Amino acid sequence: MNVDGKHYRTIWLADDGRAVEIIDQTKLPHAFVTARLATLEDAARAITDMQVRGAPLIGAAAAYGICLALRDDPSDDRLAEAYDLLHATRPTGINLRWALDEMRSTLTPLPPDQRLAAAYRRAAEICDQDVAINQAIGEHGLPLIRELWQKKRRPDCLNILTHCNAGWLATVDWGTALAPIYKAHDAGIPVHVWVDETRPRSQGARLTAWELNHHGVPHTIIADNVGGHLMQHRRVDLCLVGTDRTTAQGDVCNKIGTYLKALAAHDNHVPFYVALPSPSIDWTIEDGIADIPIEQRDPAEMTDITGRTASGDVVTVTLTPPGSPVANYAFDVTPARYITAFITEKGVCPASREGLRGLFGGRSC
Ligand code: MRU
Repeated sequence: MNVDGKHYRTIWLADDGRAVEIIDQTKLPHAFVTARLATLEDAARAITDMQVRGAPLIGAAAAYGICLALRDDPSDDRLAEAYDLLHATRPTGINLRWALDEMRSTLTPLPPDQRLAAAYRRAAEICDQDVAINQAIGEHGLPLIRELWQKKRRPDCLNILTHCNAGWLATVDWGTALAPIYKAHDAGIPVHVWVDETRPRSQGARLTAWELNHHGVPHTIIADNVGGHLMQHRRVDLCLVGTDRTTAQGDVCNKIGTYLKALAAHDNHVPFYVALPSPSIDWTIEDGIADIPIEQRDPAEMTDITGRTASGDVVTVTLTPPGSPVANYAFDVTPARYITAFITEKGVCPASREGLRGLFGGRSC
């Protein structure tokens, strides 16, 4: 997508063809800064500290992390070490494991002296594949939005609520949930996006709002608790979110708070769609509540908040009383029964085992 007239992906190869560059998302929206990853440890740290985040982008960054690890040592031991280090960075999103498995199965059969070039090729393919998947999700989501808009027949706009950041910053380009929104906006459908703030990391307020601003999509940032009220007053026509891991039976694990939005949508008969790239499907598990590990992050993300002062300085302040314990759960699970349908790269399908198998036959991509 474009930032001030220049096209960016969220991750790309540096001029030397070896190091990797990223948009440092910890600095947005106050500064647009890129960072260089030169080692395996740089890549692992970028994922853990959320310089890169969003399940598909985490997968892409991990793929390049394998490349960086093999630069000096393409042995089996080094590959295994890199796999384990990267796999341990964030436990919930499944694209990480998917990308690491893709890299390992590509590289393991090769003699070590052929692995480095093959690793860079496969990592680039994973990135290109992500872009193509998200574009296709956008194309398949557009008719849904158009239909809702035609049915609405009111002279205002179509109000879409989204949670967290499932935009191009969460992927290599386009985004998952935001891809159909960008396509709809570009097609002249008057969409307006309710952007959940998404505490504690504020991915909505910091990242989604920044993206939508840059693309000129009308939007309003709301506190995380507002969605239910808006739905009761018919101010939300559609909820559209992403997913970090979707089980074989269609349960969706996404940013903490997604489940509460799905409950409110269900109670108010608001369609609740999930934009689902197939590498986000975990075919090995069924029950999302029982089987998906939920990441718990540093309490400092809850106790402290960073922002820009009137004089332009970016500062971090503490919100909470000293000594109060904090629990910082990063994701929750929305059971399939609350999901209207999935928007995937292969089309729209019911949120069920049959729906997913019908499109993908039990295998991602
Ligand atoms: O903790 P984050 O910012 O990595 O969480 C991201 C999300 O929850 C997104 O909604 C998710 O990755 C799906 S969008 C591509």
